Amino acid sequence: MRDPRSEALLAWYDLHARDLPWRMPPGATRRADPYRVWLSEVMLQQTTVAAVKGYFATFTATWPTVADLAAAEDGAVMAAWAGLGYYARARNLLKCARVVVAEHGGRFPGTEAGLRALPGIGPYTAAAIAAIAFGEPAVVVDGNVERVMSRLAAIETPLPAARTEIRAVAAEMTPSDRPGDHAQAVMDLGATICTPRRPACMLCPLSPDCAARAAGIATTLPRKAPKAAKPARRGHVYLARRGAEWLVETRPGSGLLGGMLAFPTSDWSDAPDDAPPFAAPWQRIGSVRHGFTHFDLTLDVHATNVAGNPDRGRWEVLDPGALPTLFAKAHALWAETKRET
Ligand code: ADE
Repeated sequence: MRDPRSEALLAWYDLHARDLPWRMPPGATRRADPYRVWLSEVMLQQTTVAAVKGYFATFTATWPTVADLAAAEDGAVMAAWAGLGYYARARNLLKCARVVVAEHGGRFPGTEAGLRALPGIGPYTAAAIAAIAFGEPAVVVDGNVERVMSRLAAIETPLPAARTEIRAVAAEMTPSDRPGDHAQAVMDLGATICTPRRPACMLCPLSPDCAARAAGIATTLPRKAPKAAKPARRGHVYLARRGAEWLVETRPGSGLLGGMLAFPTSDWSDAPDDAPPFAAPWQRIGSVRHGFTHFDLTLDVHATNVAGNPDRGRWEVLDPGALPTLFAKAHALWAETKRET
């Protein structure tokens, strides 16, 4: 028998499921393509559905199967990922596609444990793919699910300590039939109704069962342990233009923005050296800021159109769309400065 809360949730999902390009409609007899489910789940980590849709369309048009993606050039995949952030995801995406082709004959493993063994697939993603693409009753818990479950059971323990209790509630609710629809119903509820600041409890199929609503504390959950302030780092970035070409480099494969197209920079630290790639009259045109997971970065942007002999990088006609957001901001600052002068 299904948990009555899952029953109510599935009835709501049957009517209100979001129509998303990687999804089968509620109750469909055919399961979603594991490749599309995997790709969407990796893209959706730390990123909204709205931001992902365009990237998902480009990826699936360019690489319709996991074998196509496995055969792609690294640079093409990194360029197509530019702007989505957390670039280790893109590097692992390629690794994972290649392992699926080389070691699994191009088919994703159908169990949570099998999926978990693949590069870049953590507990959340493994559970989501197992439930959505393979109909396994896996317990799927991400940030949205944490919010829904902590409210439903009025869990006042702060995160991250609350995770054990949250998981227990999520497990209790997970049905053995339609686990994929159930997981996606919780996600949709978290994204559209049980929102962080102004939950629409009047529209919520779970409101009769919601302990936080009864106690009037829904908007205060989930509680979070206070976070340490992020440290600030600084650096310099150098935009050198020679006619139609720019001095660019590919960042080293591991580390921040690894494998991505970049303008040369100094080190990023408390007191970075101003280390231009060649001697020239560099003009400081302003600065850009960017929040990384573990620190906030401010880069002073220096530009020149006097050519020189760089000690790193290559001259290339620039595809600004292939730049990660940090460097796209620097390029946009340059474009703005140019328009004004
Ligand atoms: N967020 C993460 N995965 C999702 C999915 N499959 N559907 C909707 N939102 C999501």
